[in-house]
Amino acid sequence: MKRRIGILTSGGDCPGLNATIRAVAKACYEKMGTENVEIIGISDGFGGLINNEAKVMKPSDFSGILTRGGTILGTSRTPYKKMLVIEDDNVDKVKNMKETYKSLKLDCLLTLGGNGTHKTANLLSSEGLNVIGLPKTIDNDIFGTDVTFGFHSAVDIATDVIDRLHTTACSHSRIMLVEIMGNKAGWLTLYAGIAGGADGIIIPEIPYDIDKVIAAVRKRVESGKNFSIIAVAEGAFDKEEAELKKKERMKIRKEAGIITATSRIAAQITEATGIESRVCVPGHMLRGGSPSAYDRVLATKFGAYAAKLIAEEDYGNTVAMINGIVGANPLSEIAGKTKFVPENHQLVQTAKALGISFGD
Ligand code: F6P
Repeated sequence: MKRRIGILTSGGDCPGLNATIRAVAKACYEKMGTENVEIIGISDGFGGLINNEAKVMKPSDFSGILTRGGTILGTSRTPYKKMLVIEDDNVDKVKNMKETYKSLKLDCLLTLGGNGTHKTANLLSSEGLNVIGLPKTIDNDIFGTDVTFGFHSAVDIATDVIDRLHTTACSHSRIMLVEIMGNKAGWLTLYAGIAGGADGIIIPEIPYDIDKVIAAVRKRVESGKNFSIIAVAEGAFDKEEAELKKKERMKIRKEAGIITATSRIAAQITEATGIESRVCVPGHMLRGGSPSAYDRVLATKFGAYAAKLIAEEDYGNTVAMINGIVGANPLSEIAGKTKFVPENHQLVQTAKALGISFGD
């Protein structure tokens, strides 16, 4: 009997998804024999599972995709909180997903995704499906794993952005603020900020005081530096906003005509110092293109480990890097949790030791 393995990618894409898909497929074929494995690619995330959009993949589909960005399967966002809600279209999403799993005669389902994906994966696992998760996201905020694939590629891209901003900031004697993706967790901003030699790093886990940010800029001016670079996570907020619920915060920002804090910080710096400040938002470029060498290796390790779990019929887990060793965590133990940057994380301390301001 052929082992039928369903695979989907869900949530925001990132470099390394295809490398992981390839590793799972190659390792499954190698371990169980090509003739004993059938891989079914489910289109566009959980949407494909809900609407029964899937196709049987051939071994050749997995060739030449190690370096390819994005996902050959397509992806979509189906928020977890909507999974259990029957909306106007009258679709019972959970029922449909279970039916698709059954109609495709799957032995297991692999879900490559971030925090939202893991919540749905855990839901399907608790509904009796054989599920294995794989941790992807440029945000690096999945609980229980040292690192997610996609993260280090994004760190490399964001670092390159900061490098390029350095030369132009210096030429024009400007303050350059770079807004880096990461709504809840500041890992990407922290790593890229350090790798790119930013003078300020502002992340959601450490609410900032604008006076401290301005003081840091002034200190650089006084020491003869004609420019500064500040890396700001898209989800950053100040100490006053930290007292508010997210909804209230967003309402106040909407009234003020801003979405993220970056442009506000830039305006406040210019007002206080008279120095021209500019904002650069690389946005989705941080998620585009080929995975870095680090991510190709990580994706290959994770994919091969997932194949081992499949061969052993060890389901209900998500693959993880646990203290430097590839292993797995039960989905039920990590779903719904976020890995934030601890305020006293060693990298935060390292940055502070160099005089990088967090505005705290
Ligand atoms: O979760 C990855 C991520 O890139 C976040 O850093 C960012 O906040 C979000 O996705 C953007 O999502 P979308 O591409 O759906 O706008």
